[in-house]
Amino acid sequence: MSIAEEMRIHCEAELARSQTSSSAKRRPRPKTSAAPVSHLTPVGVQMRPNGQKYHPRNLAGVEDLAFLRDARRHREHVLMDGPPGAGKTAMVEAAFAADATNGHPGGVETIVGTGSTEVPDFVGTFVQNPATKAYEWMPGPLMRSVENDVPLFVDEIALIDARVLSVLYPLMDGRDELRIEMNPTLPPMKVGPGWFVIGACNRDVPGAHLSDALVSRFDHHFQVTTDWDLAADLGVPLGLIKAAKNLEERKAQATYEGWIPQMRDALSFAECFSRHGQDFAVASLLRKCPAADREDMAETLASNLAPAEPLTLGARMRKPRQGRK
Ligand SMILES: Nc1ncnc2c1ncn2[C@@H]1O[C@H](COP(=O)(O)OP(=O)(O)OP(=O)(O)O)[C@@H](O)[C@H]1O
Ligand SMILES: [Mg+2]
Repeated sequence: MSIAEEMRIHCEAELARSQTSSSAKRRPRPKTSAAPVSHLTPVGVQMRPNGQKYHPRNLAGVEDLAFLRDARRHREHVLMDGPPGAGKTAMVEAAFAADATNGHPGGVETIVGTGSTEVPDFVGTFVQNPATKAYEWMPGPLMRSVENDVPLFVDEIALIDARVLSVLYPLMDGRDELRIEMNPTLPPMKVGPGWFVIGACNRDVPGAHLSDALVSRFDHHFQVTTDWDLAADLGVPLGLIKAAKNLEERKAQATYEGWIPQMRDALSFAECFSRHGQDFAVASLLRKCPAADREDMAETLASNLAPAEPLTLGARMRKPRQGRK
């Protein structure tokens, strides 16, 4: 039996075990009069590893960055959900940017999930050294996060197969131990005080799925959408903000179900607007919009910015004629 096959069987057994047994919880009972969390000291504006500023946001009275850092202190795993480009990754990067070291420039280990993510993508795998031809163990982000006691950020978590994610279960339900069966030479590793899991996903995308067993292991759940006041401060044209808010209102009233631009789209719209002008930017945004929603989007953009057709490449550019002398 191959190593991968063994790992798969182990994970399936783990998944079944954790779904049927009521695992002992590590945390004490909650106090009846829980202390308010708003005493958390705000972290303030942070620089992300890519050099962009992150402006902290309000999470039910608590600063988002301070909240994430507090959740880590208490090993309370956090799951966020939201449309593409609203700010999930930026928030995680900003929250732990201050903990960056040479070994961890971002202060956090990240794995970006896909439909083909496997257990070795989390824990690590053996790779052949081209010089010696010997197989050497290459730790994956989960092992590195435990080893270095930093948070594990599982981006696009809902795209990963539930059987693969069961590798996280023992670390998230109080057993606090990572055993890497693929490499029997590695002793079990205990998680430290700086380790916890943050998951980010967009549950609306095709193929997204989270098992009940995984969802229940996350202590905090919140949604991330775009802060349009912040977008305005970052230079996004008012017309686009009005258009997006208008679509959000219609979505709330169930009269529109389609795509709504988020912060990423708004910032690239603003950039395009400033370099190529309003008409070009509106036409480009219309092309970005899924075809099924384009009619609604065109209408909203026309009333808040300008009417436009989706951007299309035209005929060959001719050289401008030389003026006669
Ligand atoms: N609070 C914020 N302060 C400053 N910039 C922000 C903030 N929130 C979002 N942004 C900007 O929006 C962009 C998109 O954010 P991000 O990549 O984190 O979205 P996401 O929710 O992770 O999207 P996806 O689901 O596609 O991964 C960031 O590059 C950043 O420039
Ligand atoms: Mg992201």
